[in-house]
Order: sequence, then structure tokens, then C-alpha cells
Amino acid sequence: MRHAPIAKALPTLNRERLRALLAPHSLAVVNANDIPTTNSDGSTALVPNSDLFYLTSVEQEQTILLLAPDACDEKLREILFIRETSELLAQWEGHKLTKDEARAVSGIARVEWLEQFPQIFRQLMSEMENAYLNSNDHARATVEVESRDARFVRETQRQFPLHTYRRLAPLLRTLRLVKSEHEIALLERACAITRDSYERVARFVRPGVNECEIEAEFAHEYIRQRGKFSYQPIIASGKNACVLHYLANDQPCNSGDLLLLDVGASYANYNADVTRTLPVNGKFSRRQRQVYDAVLRGLRQCTDALVPGKKPRDWQKEAEAFMEKELLALGLLKPRDIKKQDPDKPALKKFFMHGVGHPLGLDVHDVMAPGVPMAPGWVMTVEPGIYLPDEGFAVRLEDDILITAHGNVNLTRDIPIEASDIEALMAGRGEKARR
Ligand code: GLY
Ligand code: MN
Repeated sequence: MRHAPIAKALPTLNRERLRALLAPHSLAVVNANDIPTTNSDGSTALVPNSDLFYLTSVEQEQTILLLAPDACDEKLREILFIRETSELLAQWEGHKLTKDEARAVSGIARVEWLEQFPQIFRQLMSEMENAYLNSNDHARATVEVESRDARFVRETQRQFPLHTYRRLAPLLRTLRLVKSEHEIALLERACAITRDSYERVARFVRPGVNECEIEAEFAHEYIRQRGKFSYQPIIASGKNACVLHYLANDQPCNSGDLLLLDVGASYANYNADVTRTLPVNGKFSRRQRQVYDAVLRGLRQCTDALVPGKKPRDWQKEAEAFMEKELLALGLLKPRDIKKQDPDKPALKKFFMHGVGHPLGLDVHDVMAPGVPMAPGWVMTVEPGIYLPDEGFAVRLEDDILITAHGNVNLTRDIPIEASDIEALMAGRGEKARR
């Protein structure tokens, strides 16, 4: 792994919190992700399973965590199963965790080779009533390929049809929504790397440069700082910025255009998710500035509106009401558009058609519990935008906000956002703007 070791107190505490949520006479199992295959005999790097990483800090394929807090034999209460290495594996894939290393990373005292899993699992199933198995329950997930967890659920239910099966995902999302101090420190690191990347890019952007060259600048900064992209970067100049998930990043940036950058670093699997909009030639036009300032006011208003006890749906409605006023002030909406609008398709959606933000953490669109109000420890993105394809540009601004009992902390406050600070930075006069 590239990142510095994570204190084993983090996964240890996470397992403790999970154990407290399990019903009596239960076991719980979490599997690693499969290594994604490509074409021919190709594959990409493992994307760690966020739940397994949360509970173990282990990032190795085929790993399994087995928890059975009530097991009669206390040596069976918490076991980590890892892939045993061989000369062949060492030759082709390099080092795999030893049992001692897995203990040190996870804080789990009992580590076994994977071959032991079926027998130990059978023994524990014979003792337990409930099996908590894991699944990807994200509301917008598209699941076309069966994951290791999903295969495990299918096979376990076939072998043990009379157990009570429970979903682990709702418990894990309850826990993962509230970030601990250790997690916040890792998110801060991801945000600091992201800050450095934006400062680098603001100095690099100029008319004629291609979007892909800008992507390369971000990549350089992230990899140099032992991070990676949190998600496929969106580097969209001119009207490309009106495509919400623009990924081509292959067009030249022209003088007079705006450049929308939705790019963030991931560090130790914790993600920053940041958007800034820059003038390619270093100076906003009057019109661009008008729209930019409207979005910035929206960002500030929506950031202040993140308070413990508020439901995300209500926050979204408030954001839409605020952005509606801004769109009226810009003349993009007329009062009559609002009067005659279908409440299911409000007029503002023509210009601001996406969610105002989402939880952030080990996943960029992190776990979400429908209807659950926000609480201290949540980290939310705030990302209003105005999209004007007819005028050939869009503005979106996005910060990452930690909610606390005593007000919000903007984790991305060091990334310049005032239009004048961006112009100063692009002109090489940049003092970091702090809110
Ligand atoms: N930054 C990408 C997204 O939130 O969809
Ligand atoms: Mn986002």
C-alpha cells in the first residue's frame, strides 16, 4: 500500500461498534471484492471492499472477516481469513500479508489461511441462529456482476436454508455515516492533497491546453503524494461542463471559456470530492462572474443549512428554493415559469438538475440511510450548479463539509473559491483564500 499505516485502533473500534448492533446468537461475514477483469487475461487493481476495509484495514484480495461475538469458544469470536502465499504467487504478484502482518494491520488476534474457512464457518453456523451477510444496498447501484459477497450469500443460503438471514448493510451504513476522529484525519489528508492539486492546476491552465493535459497534472500530484483519483475526473471546458458526468477529457480549452474541474484525491481509501470552475484565460467575464457568484452564494447557503437533525431530503428542498431565487435574479427563470410549473418537475431543474450533495467517506457517494436525519460526524458534499448549454458554459462548486455539534467544518476551505482569489492564483499572485 502507498499510504502510511493506519492505526489498528480504527478498525478495532469499528468492529466493536458493529458487534454492539448484532442480535444475540449471530455471526457476521464480510468478503473482499473480486479483482475486476478487463479483456483477454487482463485485470485492474483490486478496489478494496469499503465495508471490509472499514472493519479490518486489510486491502488484499480474497480476505474474509468472520465475527461471532457469542461463540462458546472465545477463540472463534473474531477471525480474519487471508490468502496463503506460495512461491508462485510471490514470483508473479509479489508479497502477500503474513499472519503477523494481518494481525498488526487489523488488530485481529486470530488470523487463519483461507482454506480453514469452510470448516470453521460450518462449526459456527451450527451454533448460531442468525447470519448477517453483506450486500451492496446503495439505492443507485447498478449491479450487473455478482460480487463475492453476493455469491457467498447464495451459497450459504443453499447450504444452511433454515437459518435466519439478516442484512449487514443497514448496520454498517449506520456506523459508516458517522466518521470517527481517525477517519476525519484521513479525509483531511485527502482534502490537503486535493488542495495542492488545484493550486498546481490553476497555475497550469491557459488557452490552448488540452483537458487531458490538465488531468495529467492532477494525476502527477495525487500519485506523488501517495494518493489516487477518488473517481474518474471530470475536466470539462466550455459547453462540455453541461454534461454532468463528462469523462472524455479530450478537448482544447479556449480563451473566454470556463473550465469545470470535478476532481478529488483519495488517500488510504478516504475520498475528497471537490469541484471548482476556472476561467481558461484567467479572468471571468461579467456574465460568467454573475452566474459564478450566484452559485457561490448557493454553496454558502447550503453549507450553513447542514445542521444536525435535518433530513437530507429537506436540505435538498431548501437548496432548490434558494437556487430558484438565484435563477430568478439572473433572469433565467421568470415568475410565470414558477407559477405554472409541475411540482414534480420544477422549472429550476432545467438549470440545476442534480442533488445538492451526498455523504462522503470510504465511498465517494458514501453510504446513505433513507430518512435518517444528519448528525455530528457526518461528512457531506455541497455542490450546487447552474448549467447553461445555450450560453456554452456551466458553473458548479463543491466543498466537503464535516457536521459537528458546534457548527460545520469546511474540510476544503483552503482550496480557493472566491472568483477574485481564483483570478489571483491563476495570475501567480495566489495567497490561499480561507473562509
Ligand atoms: N463528483 C462526482 C459526483 O459527485 O458525482
Ligand atoms: Mn460530489
